[in-house]
Amino acid sequence: MSGANDPYDPKQVAALSPAALAAGVAQAREALAKAADLDQLRAAQAAHVGDRSPLALANREIAALPPAAKSDAGKRVNAARTEVRQAYAARLAELEAERDARVLLEESVDVTLPWDRRITGARHPLTTTQELIGDVFTAMGWEVAEGPEVEAEWFNFDALNIGVDHPTRTLMDTFFVAAPDGSADSGLVLRTHTSPVQARVMLTRKPPIYVICPGKVFRTDEPDATHSPVFHQVEGLVIDKGITMAHLKGTLDHMAQAFFGPGIVTRLRPSYFPFTEPSAEPDLLCFVCRGESAGNPNRPCRTCDSEGWIEWGGCGMVNPRVLRACGIDPEVYSGFAFGMGIERTMMFRNNAADLRNIVEGDVRFTQAFGMEA
Ligand code: PHE
Repeated sequence: MSGANDPYDPKQVAALSPAALAAGVAQAREALAKAADLDQLRAAQAAHVGDRSPLALANREIAALPPAAKSDAGKRVNAARTEVRQAYAARLAELEAERDARVLLEESVDVTLPWDRRITGARHPLTTTQELIGDVFTAMGWEVAEGPEVEAEWFNFDALNIGVDHPTRTLMDTFFVAAPDGSADSGLVLRTHTSPVQARVMLTRKPPIYVICPGKVFRTDEPDATHSPVFHQVEGLVIDKGITMAHLKGTLDHMAQAFFGPGIVTRLRPSYFPFTEPSAEPDLLCFVCRGESAGNPNRPCRTCDSEGWIEWGGCGMVNPRVLRACGIDPEVYSGFAFGMGIERTMMFRNNAADLRNIVEGDVRFTQAFGMEA
């Protein structure tokens, strides 16, 4: 047999030699293993697994082989391609699993993360306290009255029986408003209390009068933990037939309990205000020790300084001179009035120690009260 007539010479097609196929498989395996992600794997697949890969091209050469050689070469190429396809499928599964795990991690939602970095504003506790006071009284049928913050001296003082030589009329306490020409006698002041609203209400409404007036007041005080040149008061005024101090006491007790809880009553200490006669200062039963710290060294109370009671403003029966100045006949009508500081009330109620926090407007302070309706 001559070699020239041999119907099959494997060396005829080099790409189909077992060595060439083995090299093709090895290259393919290496490239697939090196692919670090699905994009790289796709490129490796095109180069080593797809229709234009060396093994695919080798496959095409089979057609050129003599029939006797075709089956052998075909098996070899098939085996090589199957091996590469399996290697590809295995690497694909690996990389897909890696990607899925990464996506799970990257796209998972951490529900404990802050969901909104914008600070939500909160209503100022002074506003909510004033509204609460309004609610307590409107629930009893009272009306809310308002008056100007820049007030006529006559309303702030004269109508309230505060004579020209009264200490509160001096520059010590009062902001006088200068006249446009710069002189001090404009006749206007920044109201030093809410009591001028009493006079305004009596002059504009007919008895029976049941009003509450919360609002800003001004005094020339240096700011410190318990003083501010601007603060808020709430004034109450009742004018009706047969009004006595018992009504005043009952009203104050109701307000105290609405604010500080059942059992927190008031007591009246004799005092003096030009616009009420008799006058008293209401004290609030200490809502922390409920009066038990008084005279009891074993139970000191910081809230009331172990007094058992806390000072809470001023009150009294409206002075007949005030009634007369405001056009109401003291022979027919009598009434009571009271006034207390809203900051002070709020500080007790919300356990705030420093008045400056209330005034300065730092949202971190108001936020703590944000949940209060
Ligand atoms: N206006 C008084 C003050 O500012 C308080 C007060 C109001 C007293 C009403 C009696 C009656 O101190």
